[in-house]
Amino acid sequence: MLEKTITKDGTAQRWQDFVVPQCWEAFTAEDHAVWDVLFARQVELLGARVVSPFLDGIDLLRLSHPGVPDVEGLNAILTPRTGWRVVAVPGLVPDAAFFAMLAERIFPVGNFIRTREQLDYLEAPDCFHDMFGHIPMLAHHDFAEMVEHVGRLGVAAIAAGEGDRAARIYWHSVEFGLAREGDELKILGAGLASSFGEAHSSLESETVERLPFSVSRAVKTPYKHDAFQPRYLVSGSLDRTIAEVMGLTRERLLAL
Ligand SMILES: [Fe+2]
Repeated sequence: MLEKTITKDGTAQRWQDFVVPQCWEAFTAEDHAVWDVLFARQVELLGARVVSPFLDGIDLLRLSHPGVPDVEGLNAILTPRTGWRVVAVPGLVPDAAFFAMLAERIFPVGNFIRTREQLDYLEAPDCFHDMFGHIPMLAHHDFAEMVEHVGRLGVAAIAAGEGDRAARIYWHSVEFGLAREGDELKILGAGLASSFGEAHSSLESETVERLPFSVSRAVKTPYKHDAFQPRYLVSGSLDRTIAEVMGLTRERLLAL
């Protein structure tokens, strides 16, 4: 179990150092109203365009309850179910600490929400992206196990100086993956599920590439941090994504 992550200047930083109180009481009436606007329009936009366990997770975690969710309330449902625990962070967590969190079934969520003027703001993941996008799938037992595995791979890859390999696996599955469900193409990744602009374009745009998902392709496929993706990897099913990623060992990841 990894407790410390090493920063570029050599100082030891534990993932716990990034955790802050959520201070749910500090969210204003306007913050809660922004959540409600984002939630309502995203649920309508997604409809059935997302893998069905995502919608099950929304119901199970009662994310339709008005206002920004409080992490204690989420954890009261999530932790007994899959062992995952949500913690608040003030912003982006460095990859080393992020993967170390995932390896322990800890998911960091921003302690802030975008403003009404920035409803489609993409750069810094806020609590809408983190909670609406990510947490529903962490209530799915096999996906929850897969995300922990990605965390372990990330810790190992960073220790070997190959963190980008694990980041690409994470990106093309957990964040921006697509998956078939029967005959239909569905959103799997949180970055798509929580995005007003990219949810539809990932499925319907004729100007993006959609390539079959495999872990070897994911490791070799670059991605964009701050713009719509030019290409998406499409899995045959959610279960295929999980099986492929769970079958990826540290040794194979480093050899791909
Ligand atoms: Fe994310």
